Amino acid sequence: MDVVSTLVVAFWAMLPAYVPNNAAVLVGGGRPIDGGRNLGERRILGDGKTWRGTIFGTLTGVALALLLSEVAAPVGEAAGIPLPTFPLPVAFGLAFGAMLGDISASFLKRRTGRDRGAAFPGLDQLDFVVGALALAAIADPAWFGEWFTLPVLAVVVVLTPLLHIGTNGVAYVLDLKEEPW
Ligand code: CTP
Ligand code: MG
Repeated sequence: MDVVSTLVVAFWAMLPAYVPNNAAVLVGGGRPIDGGRNLGERRILGDGKTWRGTIFGTLTGVALALLLSEVAAPVGEAAGIPLPTFPLPVAFGLAFGAMLGDISASFLKRRTGRDRGAAFPGLDQLDFVVGALALAAIADPAWFGEWFTLPVLAVVVVLTPLLHIGTNGVAYVLDLKEEPW
């Protein structure tokens, strides 16, 4: 694969993982997953991780993956780059994995004394990548091995923090998000 193809495949394959947390920001609120409970002195997860946000975010990611699957062949042909379709378990793994990674990060943030909304550089930008890749790999190891080659994975690790900082900055400026991270 040439450089451009590697970039395009990385972005395409990760789109169903990029969208869920941003979708959650749009609808977030309501009952927190931890039900308001503490672990020791602090909340288990905090008010920023809600059922509504998690379910809506996951469904949005899955829906996007199914949509991309429909257009992968014509778009890939037009661009001259073979693009992946997303089997349902992979679609769910990428979308729910992204949400789970972010939820796990909130758990770690609370355990390390960070209040809701506090920044945790590094973790904030890559938590959802690790979750999405892990669940996609478990969901369909053959699909994962075919598309997430080492060069694609390298691009994902470099590209994602940049995209994350960009989209969250936009969400902050638009007043959709309380902090720019
Ligand atoms: N959100 C949600 N459910 C999720 C993830 C996010 O409802 N599983 C919504 C919440 O309204 C949250 C907002 O999206 O406040 C921004 O998400 P995020 O930055 O991840 O949460 P924070 O409020 O910053 O909390 P934390 O410190 O735990 O990350
Ligand atoms: Mg936050």
